[in-house]
Formats: sequence, structure tokens, C-alpha cells
Amino acid sequence: MTGKIGTVGIIGAGQMGGGIAHVAAQAGYKVRLYDISADKIESGLATINGNMARQVSSGKMDEEARKAALANITSTPVLEDLAGVDLVIEAATEDETVKRKIFAQLCPILNPEALLATNTSSISITRLAAQTDRPERFIGIHFMNPVPVMKLVELVRGIATEDTTFETAKHFVASLDKTITVAEDFPAFIVNRILLPMINEAIYTLYEGVGSVEAIDTAMKLGANHPMGPLQLADFIGLDTCLSIMQVLHDGLSDTKYRPCPLLVKYVEAGWLGRKSGRGFYDYR
Ligand code: CAA
Repeated sequence: MTGKIGTVGIIGAGQMGGGIAHVAAQAGYKVRLYDISADKIESGLATINGNMARQVSSGKMDEEARKAALANITSTPVLEDLAGVDLVIEAATEDETVKRKIFAQLCPILNPEALLATNTSSISITRLAAQTDRPERFIGIHFMNPVPVMKLVELVRGIATEDTTFETAKHFVASLDKTITVAEDFPAFIVNRILLPMINEAIYTLYEGVGSVEAIDTAMKLGANHPMGPLQLADFIGLDTCLSIMQVLHDGLSDTKYRPCPLLVKYVEAGWLGRKSGRGFYDYR
């Protein structure tokens, strides 16, 4: 038996949380999108609106479906408004302290039967679950960016995750028309374990002067058929997120091959976080 999901709470209206809200609402779920910042909610909703409008103009969605999907989303800056949802997906900053604080505030609000999922791209599901009151109903549901476009979702069980939680999460993800890959609970799971060292190596290639930003990205786009060059992709993911993932790999696997490139550290210290801050390896201002 798997539980039935009707209403989904999403924590974080950034690029991942907004994208998850988009696909869940499009699949017919009632979505409550929470963010502590009213500005983030506003820009998250504007992005969802814009992306759905693009889907309509390219014939991937009809106008009626767009209206229905948008009507499925309500937003709130009040965490208590997530009371009564069947599933919460946390998509806040990739910072364990931030996530831990959110779970501590959230758990007493939720129905005891509600499932709790995290969209973490690297942090241990077992450790995050242990900080909640429901490790058996806790799971990693890791979407890829941009969520409306990317087909893959990684499902990651913690050591205590019950079979019913896993099956419910699996049905939920399948209902979003995504393909599931099951990953074991190791640092950064599958996609980021492979992708982020490649991006980090591209940054080392720049740092050591092997090639310019344009040369590196062109080389990988035309030489390896990647849809985006690694530096452009790093800007797209967010350099702070890239650094957090490399730190999780470095700390969790204790291998110097995962050492974050000093240039990546410097960019993050400068506040050059990629597209979202207006500057990264490219200038978006
Ligand atoms: N949100 C929603 N839809 C978007 C979008 C966004 N941010 N960006 C592009 N799209 C849609 C476009 O509307 C377009 O849809 P239609 O076909 O319906 O018109 C489609 O995607 C293709 O877009 P474009 O023609 O504008 O551009 P493109 O062909 O260059 O594709 C891309 C853009 C899909 C982002 C492509 O460059 C790509 O696949 N890049 C790599 C993305 C990637 O590797 N993602 C994984 C990141 S790692 C991750 O997410 C894990 C993590 O934890 C960090």
C-alpha cells in the first residue's frame, strides 16, 4: 500500500523549488509554495508564469492547462500554512544548518503521517532524516535543473526510510512524467558525484591557464556534445551550490581529488555566484 498525495508543500521558491512547484501543479497536485522572502516568492511565481507561457507558445501546453496549473499553486511566507499537506519537498539553500533549522520548525506543524522529502543535491539523507521526527517517512527526491525540462529525478533512501515512503515517492515522481534513478546515500549521489568533479576540473583548467572561459566551454560543447559548456553550466547551477557540493564530496569521501578549485572559492567569496547574482564566469548584467 502506498500513501496518496494530494497536496504538496514546497520550501524555497528559488530555481529548484519554483521548478518543482511548476511540474507538480502541472500534474494536478495542489501546491503550497513557501519561502521566507516575499521577494523570492514573487520572482519564483513570475518565473513559473514565464516558463508556462513559453510552453504554451511552443505548443507543449494548452491555455486551459496553463490556467489550471497556475490555479493549483498558492504561495505563502508563513510556514504554518504547510499544515495539512501530504508531502513536503524542501528545496532551500544547500546548507545543512539551514535545512536543519527548517525541519525543526516544520515537523511540529505537519500531520504525523506526512512525508518529508529533501531536494538536496549532495547531503546525507540519513543524517538529515535523523534530525527530524520521522526518519522512516523521510526521503531524498533530487530534481535536475531546469526542472520542467530535465527528465531525471534521483530517489535516495536514508537508512531508516520505509518501503511505503519509497513507493509513494516513486509513484509521485512517475506521475510528474519523470524518469527515476535510484541512488544509494553516498555524498552527491550519482549525477553530482560525476558532474561536479567535471565542472571543478573545468575551473582548474581555467585557473591553470590551459584555456579561456570561451575556449573551455566551446571545447566541451563541440568536442563532447554537451548542451552547455561546464563553466556556463556552473553559472547556471550557482557557484555557491557548486562549491557546497564539492565540499560535501571532499569532506565525505576524504579524497584530495575532490578539492574545490581555489578559483571557485574566490568567486564565491566575491559574491560572484553565476547567473543569479549577475556575474560568474560570464557577465549577466
Ligand atoms: N525553465 C524551464 N524551461 C526552460 C528553461 C528553464 N530555466 N530553460 C529552457 N527551458 C526550455 C525552453 O523553453 C525550451 O522549451 P521548448 O522546447 O518548449 O521551446 C527548451 O527548454 C529548450 O530551451 P532553449 O531552446 O532555450 O535552449 P537550449 O536548447 O539551449 O536548452 C537547456 C536549454 C535545456 C537548459 C540545455 O542547455 C541543457 O540541457 N543544459 C544542461 C542542463 C543540465 O545539465 N542540467 C543539470 C544541472 S545539474 C543539476 O541540476 C543537479 C544539481 O543538483 C546541481
